[in-house]
Amino acid sequence: ISLKKLVVAIDGPAGAGKSTVAKLAAKALGYIYIDTGAMYRAVAWKALQQKAPVTDALILSVVKDIDVRLSYHDGVTHVFVNGEEATDYIRTPEVSRIVSQVAALGPVREKMVELQRAMAEEGGVLMDGRDIGTHVLPQADVKIFLTASIEERAQRRYREMREKGYDVELAKLQEDIAARDKADSERAISPLVQAADAVLLDTTGLSIEQVVEKILGMCR
Ligand code: DC
Repeated sequence: ISLKKLVVAIDGPAGAGKSTVAKLAAKALGYIYIDTGAMYRAVAWKALQQKAPVTDALILSVVKDIDVRLSYHDGVTHVFVNGEEATDYIRTPEVSRIVSQVAALGPVREKMVELQRAMAEEGGVLMDGRDIGTHVLPQADVKIFLTASIEERAQRRYREMREKGYDVELAKLQEDIAARDKADSERAISPLVQAADAVLLDTTGLSIEQVVEKILGMCR
């Protein structure tokens, strides 16, 4: 059977497991996976590289002539900023701490959204982020709002960071996630909010496999 190449939007707060399940679902569907958070992180990383206080003016000067590209293979989203690979540097606590400030700026969002829409044009894509169903791809065929309790999201992020060798503290991580949720939900431009036509999927207590199966079921 041949299926229509769908456009799938997955939004939700930090640490809900969007990228983990989105990658697996995209693989099962034979779709391209697009991690839009990685793009905002790439801009944040570039701003930190300037070795100057990260003001809005600095971020705006950085984004002016930035070129961000994603290439996904073997389960990893590779991120290139002006041709330089930044994949290994975009998930540090330093980047996480300033990325909401970066993502709140209109010119940053305009540039990233334009790139994101171009990547989704052909269909057969699964895109995750905060504003995909509400703003980037309002015509998406499937919209999912993925969430989990703040405690569980902090636990998941904690295990992930520890595995990568970062010396993080659970309570501090939970604080950082809560701060990022608040900033992302309260910003003026394209805030994190469930689209009216999105399906709410609370993953608290569910395994990765169970969540992926639910997503595939919605696509079918
Ligand atoms: O999904 P993530 O944690 O990698 O995203 C990093 C930040 O980027 C997040 O705190 C908010 C921002 N973001 C956004 O504003 N819009 C998106 N579509 C994706 C991410």
